[in-house]
Amino acid sequence: MYSGLPVKIGRAAEGDTFEAAVLAGLARRPRAVPAKFLYDAQGSALFDAICELPEYYLTRTEIAILRDCVPDIAALAGPGRQLVEFGSGSSTKTRLLLDGLHKVAAYLPIDISVEHLEASSRRLRRDYPLLPVVPVYADYMDMPVLPWLPGAADAPRLGFFPGSTIGNLDRHEAREFLHNARRLLGRGGALVLGADLKKDPEMLHAAYNDSAGVTAAFSLNLLLRMNRELDANFDARAFAHDAFYNSGEGRIEIYIRSLCPQWVRVAGRPFFFDTGERIHTEYSYKYDLGDIDALSASAGFVRARTWTDPHRLFSVHYLTAAGDEPG
Ligand code: AVJ
Repeated sequence: MYSGLPVKIGRAAEGDTFEAAVLAGLARRPRAVPAKFLYDAQGSALFDAICELPEYYLTRTEIAILRDCVPDIAALAGPGRQLVEFGSGSSTKTRLLLDGLHKVAAYLPIDISVEHLEASSRRLRRDYPLLPVVPVYADYMDMPVLPWLPGAADAPRLGFFPGSTIGNLDRHEAREFLHNARRLLGRGGALVLGADLKKDPEMLHAAYNDSAGVTAAFSLNLLLRMNRELDANFDARAFAHDAFYNSGEGRIEIYIRSLCPQWVRVAGRPFFFDTGERIHTEYSYKYDLGDIDALSASAGFVRARTWTDPHRLFSVHYLTAAGDEPG
């Protein structure tokens, strides 16, 4: 019924290319490159290594919470849902939901990487032969519609946005994302959202400054990606990974900082970096339940349930569409 080819929606990854984003981001003050560009093949492999680090508690804690709460999610969601994942990557955590939900009508992974979509859809079709998988090639921040699924059109949608990816979005972007998700998920829609919790700043600091230097390599890979793809000549030894917790804003801030005055060429253009000058690469917002409530309410959701781990490090939320009939 579905060919398996990704359905392209909106401008997908073509809306804003790496080159355009870098040239605009380096010309601007403060300098900044959007976090999504950290995930080329090398960056994705480094992020997978981050998830294994002793200091990086997020991934393993979220997986443990999901393992325990999937039966509750299945009961809340009821049978026959379309499962829609925003930023599906390798769809690892999705399997916990696919195994626990009752009679999933279809799975729609959304990603800006066609390679990720094709590889993960192939593996899912192999392991779940009865499950219709409809990959969607789109930027979930710029997605006007979801594909109509004849045969599953009446199945209410369940969104999935795990991993504290929402933490990469600033407060305005997070509200925009949730508001658009609320619209896309439609009548009877619900969203399973993973968010990292506010906690001891030292523990947060360590999670983004690991002793093996993997997070630093992940950040600095952005410079190497510019060298590979934009004919740039960054020397990563002349820059440092700079990550710290801003408690006032409730977020980790990550920058690449120049260690000396230097000129660098990117796509044929010269850029000067003074000592200490920074390129912003990421925010990682941390939430408490009040923050989640306020954010949900501002986007037309209600927080129906929350699950956390015994140390209250990470949280998984079940948000329902406000104004819908319960159930
Ligand atoms: C993938 C956005 C959840 O913010 O913890 C990890 C990215 N950056 N270490 C996070 C990240 C550096 C990660 N998210």
